[in-house]
Amino acid sequence: MKKIGVLGTGTMGAGIIQVFAQKGYEVCVRARRDSSIERGLATVSKNLDRLIKKERLTEEQKTEIMGRIHTSTDISIMKECDLIVEAATENMEAKKELFAQLDEICKEDTIIATNTSSLSITEIASATNRPDKVIGMHFFNPVPVMKLVEIIKGIATSDETKEVIVGLTKEIGKTPVEVEEAPGFVVNRVLIPMINEAVGILADGVATKEDIDEAMKLGANHPIGPLALGDLVGLDVCLAIMEVLYNEFGDSKYRPHPLLRKMVRANLLGRKTKEGFYNYNR
Ligand code: 3HC
Repeated sequence: MKKIGVLGTGTMGAGIIQVFAQKGYEVCVRARRDSSIERGLATVSKNLDRLIKKERLTEEQKTEIMGRIHTSTDISIMKECDLIVEAATENMEAKKELFAQLDEICKEDTIIATNTSSLSITEIASATNRPDKVIGMHFFNPVPVMKLVEIIKGIATSDETKEVIVGLTKEIGKTPVEVEEAPGFVVNRVLIPMINEAVGILADGVATKEDIDEAMKLGANHPIGPLALGDLVGLDVCLAIMEVLYNEFGDSKYRPHPLLRKMVRANLLGRKTKEGFYNYNR
């Protein structure tokens, strides 16, 4: 693998771009708008500056890393890539459309991975003529810090594709965990209902948001509390994952809390809109 394609420059996309570029891969990036590309590159640049400040990276290394990132709004930039990681919007129809396009323009042996947080790999793969080369490669936020990548095979994903992706995951310094296709896979099936429950506890007036978070930090040794984590992940993403769990299992224990819905309707999505359960303007 030499050339990696990344589709999407949001929170996850930018992190994925950074990790591959830092490891020496040429990274081809496609986003729909120039402004999204600029925002993604700015995120990577800011993260690298943080490493320079800590004297873990030099200015020269940063220039080299940024030089390995090639961008376009045209999907044909993906043509020569050996692996593509799709980190676009969590919408099944949009993903299927993208995968169908990629299938048409990419080399025959290109693997197309999706960073979906809960959607069916099998269904995404069904939009292509290469379901054996479609796989889930699920990174965690913040991508440069978090060690885990969930590797999810769809019904038709070949063992060979899985082995390549497991090997690559290790090579970029992450730890792969193989997961059978199931709604929310492993982490999000545990983590997102926990955040949803914390929202319910807040709505019930059981404790303040600060105390809910403090309780989980000190009582369960979590690095940040569930409401702060919801803000980090994005409350829209949390809601989308709860919807998938609720619809797929049909079990009321996965019902998104009305307060979570209300926050999303108000565009209080967390860090990305500068306000969620906490305010990030300062
Ligand atoms: N990008 C890159 N690096 C970052 C970062 C970011 N956005 N945020 C923090 N860091 C780095 C810091 O530079 C620091 O690095 P160092 O220790 O090597 O110097 C390290 O992370 C610790 O950062 P801080 O000291 O500033 O702050 P914290 O101690 O609070 O750590 C955290 C920040 C790593 C984000 C920590 O709070 C944490 O682990 N939170 C939980 C994260 C989590 O659970 N993520 C999973 C979310 S679910 C998901 O992503 C799935 C998706 O499908 C929804």
